[in-house]
Amino acid sequence: MATAISTPLLMLSIIFILNSIPIPSSSCPIHQKQALLQFKSTLTTILNSSSILQSWNPISDCCSWDRVNCSRTKTRTVTELHLSEIVPLFNPVQGLMPPRLFQLESLQVLNLSNNFLQGVLSSSEVSGLKNLRYLDLSHNSLEGELGSELGSFQNLISLRLSSNYFQGSIPPQLFEVESLQVLDLSNTSVQGVLSTDVCKLRNLESLKLNDNLLTGNIPEDIGNLTKLREFSLGKNQFIGKIPSSIENLSQLESLDLSENSFTMEIPVGIGRLPNMTLLDLSKNQFTGPIPSSIRNFNKLETLRLQKNKLAGDIPTWLFQIKSLKNLYIGGKESNLIWNNKAKIIPRCSLEQLSMPSCGISGKIPDWISSQKDLYFLDLSENQLEGGFPDWLTEMEFEGIVLSDNNLSGPLPPRLFESMSLLILSLSRNNFSGELPENIGNARAIMILMLSGNNFSGQVPKSIANIFLLMLLDLSRNKFSGDSFPIFRDTRHLIYIDLSYNDFSGTIPMNFSLDTRILSLGGNKFSGDLPTTLTKFVNLEHLDLHDNEITGNFEDVLPQIPTLQVLSLRNNSIQGFIPRTISNLSSLRILDVSGNNLVGNIPPEIANLTSMIETPQLSQSDYILPVYVTNVDVFNNVIEFQDLIVNWKKSFQGLASRNLDIYSFLDLSENQISGEIPASLGNLKSLKVLNISHNRISGKIPVSFGDLQDVESLDLSHNELSGLIPQSLAKLEEITILDVSNNRLTGKIPMGGQMNTMNELDYFRNNNGLCGMQIGIICPEDIPPPEESEEDDDKQSWFLWEGTWFGFPVGFFSSILVMGYFLKFLSLFKVW
Ligand SMILES: *[C@@H]1O[C@H](CO)[C@@H](O)[C@H](O)[C@H]1NC(C)=O
Ligand SMILES: *[C@@H]1O[C@H](CO)[C@@H](O)[C@H](O)[C@H]1NC(C)=O
Ligand SMILES: *[C@@H]1O[C@H](CO)[C@@H](O)[C@H](O)[C@H]1NC(C)=O
Ligand SMILES: *[C@@H]1O[C@H](CO)[C@@H](O)[C@H](O)[C@H]1NC(C)=O
Ligand SMILES: *[C@@H]1O[C@H](CO)[C@@H](O)[C@H](O)[C@H]1NC(C)=O
Ligand SMILES: *[C@@H]1O[C@H](CO)[C@@H](O)[C@H](O)[C@H]1NC(C)=O
Ligand SMILES: *[C@@H]1O[C@H](CO)[C@@H](O)[C@H](O)[C@H]1NC(C)=O
Ligand SMILES: *[C@@H]1O[C@H](CO)[C@@H](O)[C@H](O)[C@H]1NC(C)=O
Ligand SMILES: *[C@@H]1O[C@H](CO)[C@@H](O)[C@H](O)[C@H]1NC(C)=O
Ligand SMILES: *[C@@H]1O[C@H](CO)[C@@H](O)[C@H](O)[C@H]1NC(C)=O
Ligand SMILES: *[C@@H]1O[C@H](CO)[C@@H](O)[C@H](O)[C@H]1NC(C)=O
Ligand SMILES: *[C@@H]1O[C@H](CO)[C@@H](O)[C@H](O)[C@H]1NC(C)=O
Repeated sequence: MATAISTPLLMLSIIFILNSIPIPSSSCPIHQKQALLQFKSTLTTILNSSSILQSWNPISDCCSWDRVNCSRTKTRTVTELHLSEIVPLFNPVQGLMPPRLFQLESLQVLNLSNNFLQGVLSSSEVSGLKNLRYLDLSHNSLEGELGSELGSFQNLISLRLSSNYFQGSIPPQLFEVESLQVLDLSNTSVQGVLSTDVCKLRNLESLKLNDNLLTGNIPEDIGNLTKLREFSLGKNQFIGKIPSSIENLSQLESLDLSENSFTMEIPVGIGRLPNMTLLDLSKNQFTGPIPSSIRNFNKLETLRLQKNKLAGDIPTWLFQIKSLKNLYIGGKESNLIWNNKAKIIPRCSLEQLSMPSCGISGKIPDWISSQKDLYFLDLSENQLEGGFPDWLTEMEFEGIVLSDNNLSGPLPPRLFESMSLLILSLSRNNFSGELPENIGNARAIMILMLSGNNFSGQVPKSIANIFLLMLLDLSRNKFSGDSFPIFRDTRHLIYIDLSYNDFSGTIPMNFSLDTRILSLGGNKFSGDLPTTLTKFVNLEHLDLHDNEITGNFEDVLPQIPTLQVLSLRNNSIQGFIPRTISNLSSLRILDVSGNNLVGNIPPEIANLTSMIETPQLSQSDYILPVYVTNVDVFNNVIEFQDLIVNWKKSFQGLASRNLDIYSFLDLSENQISGEIPASLGNLKSLKVLNISHNRISGKIPVSFGDLQDVESLDLSHNELSGLIPQSLAKLEEITILDVSNNRLTGKIPMGGQMNTMNELDYFRNNNGLCGMQIGIICPEDIPPPEESEEDDDKQSWFLWEGTWFGFPVGFFSSILVMGYFLKFLSLFKVW
């Protein structure tokens, strides 16, 4: 009895004693303070000028420091460190936290997110922090493999490691941490399959694994995670179907499975999830109809189903979901069909509506005008016709994408009174007339794409007032005029495409010095190529083909080290190819065909670095501002024009997006003379080399056998003599070899791809070529003469000839490979 009474008293007195201790008198343990000071010292060079961590000084109690919290117990141990965003700018900190930070065994919250921390994350050290409940290391540059030690946390509630560079797979031990409620490993380069053991984390509320290299199926037992509210696996390589157990995730609010390879139909029961606000299944291979149960989602705000293989009618009840704000459906692969007769009276109030390739025809549906909050509209790739509706100009849009339709008429001036419009893409319609004079009032436009219409007249001078303009594509219209607007303040304008219009006069040069892409081909620009081009120090792509540009190449060659693509095809450039061309160390595509160049090919051309090294497949690095509504919009909207080149004997467009994988040298149709420098064989990454239609003499260099990537080699219409070097048999990629109209003699090399070079026209008009490729036996290969009836042989050749010219190449070569069976050299002087 005595104890029973005394216990509460004892407790009371303990509480009393605790409360009576004045907290400041006890400060944090000295070893913890030292660990923190040491951590700070590793950052001092970065933090010296900022006020961050200034309160961390050796004489005060570390519990009083900014971003530090201590326990309320007597020992005052450090329990929380809120250290996100302490490294202000990009200023990588090598070597993560000094190991002593891990001596803060009392820590419950450690937040080091957004700090540019570099180095290997040592799981074993982190796991020393046994009491951690919240660990956030997201948005750094940490490396290494996530170790099994991560499974040793007993109390971990939230683990956020997103946006780092880890390797390997998710350690299975992590799935033993039952307390886990939040697991975010998105954008961390983790790979492998998602183990079904993840379904043991019954307390999980948020699971984010997007932007990784994960494969396999979603585990069937996913339905066990009944507390899950957020689930994202976007941008991985998952396959298979969505397990129907997903219907049991009744708390689910957000499901993102976009950009994977999911197939099959969307489970019908998905509509049983009452709290769903975001459903993103875009960019997969889902088939079948849009499940009608989706209409039960009465909290749904965002539905993204675009770029799937869904089929059937686009249900009009979608517009009856009151809560719906963002709707993305359709896309090129999609077979969804819009019912053009449907009468829509929407109950939703959309903010973003994207319905490309949905078969919408007729006028732009005017129920859209009831969507007062709509700021992004994409109805590209439909069959819309009629004019640009007035009501569209009266709404506050940020983005209007109507490209690839059949809209016509002029653009209403009112459209350009908008202060909110950021993106206007009307490419490939039938719009006509002049651009309104007030176009420059739309100050916010960043992307203006009007390519492939019927616009005419001068480009209004006011366009240069759009100071945010970044991308201007007026190509393929009928614009004219000899004085292009003077862009003085558009510092962001990096992409300018005026190609295929009727512009004349001198080449416009009043653009931002940050210009990266300047395409002016197919106009009537004249005058000398301006030497001031050199001031565009960021220019990557200069395309001036098919104009009337003059100048001495040695004077006007723009010495711009960043230049990757230079096309001057079909102009009137004269003079020599200067030796200094080798300074253009980024040049990968050079097309100067169809000019009046004379002199030799300078050996220095072989020092064009980017034609030597096999180009890396790199992401296009156009820095597109992401502060505009959403990144996806850019990927959908921006279709860079192709660069048209003579690719393997026909003019083709190389997609600008991955121009960096091509390497290309075209000097054809000039009056270049002299011999081919042997050094040209250095250009190992060239895919196309065309020096045809010149006056080049001498021999084909043996070094051409080193052009290991070359697919097309055109030496025709020159004065080349001697033998075709046997080294060409080393060219494994070659599919076209044209040596016609030269003075070559002797045997066409055999072996490898050379055996398939059997296009007769490509060997024609030489001084005596022979070889099985052209069906002419070489003297050295003539078997000792036998007594035979020559007349019979002669006749059979003529028969064969008729057939051969008619056969497709593949068949032709297979016959040829059968061997030499013709002996009538004398009949074919042309070879
Ligand atoms: C920090 O100090 C170093 C020299 O101690 C100095 O070079 C550096 O510019 C300073 N950093 C800042 C951001 O002021
Ligand atoms: C942590 O300390 C800061 C002051 O440094 C205080 O504002 C915050 O409420 C504390 N947090 C907790 C959870 O005690
Ligand atoms: C870490 O800090 C960032 C930025 O303040 C915050 O967004 C995030 O929620 C924090 N993480 C945790 C686990 O509290
Ligand atoms: C992915 O993580 C890296 C490294 O932190 C970061 O540079 C990149 O911006 C992240 N990507 C995205 C889409 O968040
Ligand atoms: C999911 O739940 C079922 C039924 O309760 C159980 O049999 C199964 O083992 C659970 N799966 C996992 C991975 O925990
Ligand atoms: C949903 O959960 C219930 C009860 O645990 C179970 O009987 C049912 O099979 C589950 N449904 C699916 C589709 O997994
Ligand atoms: C939906 O969310 C509400 C409020 O957020 C919550 O009270 C309710 O339990 C949730 N419904 C289900 C089925 O989880
Ligand atoms: C565009 O409309 C015109 C009539 O205005 C019609 O002749 C033409 O076929 C249409 N083109 C397409 C691609 O729909
Ligand atoms: C351009 O307009 C003219 C007449 O205005 C029309 O004849 C022509 O077909 C149009 N061109 C295109 C490509 O639509
Ligand atoms: C383009 O519009 C004009 C009228 O502006 C019309 O005559 C022409 O047929 C249209 N062209 C196409 C291809 O639709
Ligand atoms: C560029 O603009 C200036 C006036 O600002 C003008 O003198 C010059 O001729 C222009 N240059 C070209 C190439 O249009
Ligand atoms: C190419 O460059 C190398 C060194 O960069 C130099 O030695 C060589 O002479 C150059 N070749 C030509 C033909 O300029």
